[in-house]
Amino acid sequence: MTADAPVRFSDPTMLRSFGRRHGRVLRDWEEVVFRDVLPACHLKLPPGEALLQAATLQAGKRDLWMEIGFGGGEHLAAQAKQHPDICFLGCEPFDKGVAKLLRTIQTECLNNIHVFMDDARLLLSRLPDASLGRVFILFPDPWPKARHNKRRLVQPYLLSLLARTIRPGGELRMASDHADYVQWMLEVMQSQEAFEWTARGPEDFLMPPGDWVPTRYQEKTEAQGRKPTFLRYCRRG
Ligand SMILES: C[S@@+](CC[C@H](N)C(=O)[O-])C[C@H]1O[C@@H](n2cnc3c(N)ncnc32)[C@H](O)[C@@H]1O
Repeated sequence: MTADAPVRFSDPTMLRSFGRRHGRVLRDWEEVVFRDVLPACHLKLPPGEALLQAATLQAGKRDLWMEIGFGGGEHLAAQAKQHPDICFLGCEPFDKGVAKLLRTIQTECLNNIHVFMDDARLLLSRLPDASLGRVFILFPDPWPKARHNKRRLVQPYLLSLLARTIRPGGELRMASDHADYVQWMLEVMQSQEAFEWTARGPEDFLMPPGDWVPTRYQEKTEAQGRKPTFLRYCRRG
């Protein structure tokens, strides 16, 4: 990484950063979980530009954490199970992934997850200042072709939303197995003041933190011999 690297981030655009919203036709069990499980945990934005209320979202829990792009929700559900005293906001626009999480919410009887089925940036822009204690962005779509790099989720615009909504002392956790995207994340993070990289040595980014829960994507990529990088940032006070 160099201080005079060319500017290559699209700021403040809201280009689509995800692949599909819909898979093939929903199976019967998927229809059933959308009908029976989603209503109790479905997070919708209030009309107009009103902000959501942190206390309402937190529902008496001690903190509010968010996962952006939860895929099939394996990591989110495991976190919610490990931390019953935390309320979670899960964002994922892909319906088949949401259906998987809903099935787990049902079978594990989880009551501390709100599901937002759209672009996380829309939700972040409606959260109150300093309302989040931790945010996970794990293995975001790499958009590897140079002409698609501008679709990458980690951009200065996203960071401005996170800087406003993560409280001082809060944490942003990211991971990727894509070397160019890791470099990109480091550059975007270095270009702003709000977050401090907590790594003190290579073991801090080559090894997952002690309380890490592997994601489904991570398990697949590691099985193929690729090594992820784990980045942790603290919101400065
Ligand atoms: C490569 S998958 C990784 C899924 C999961 N984090 C894992 O590690 O198994 C990236 C996910 O991010 C979602 N995604 C991409 N852009 C998003 C956005 N702006 N808001 C919410 N989710 C997004 C995609 O739909 C996709 O499911």
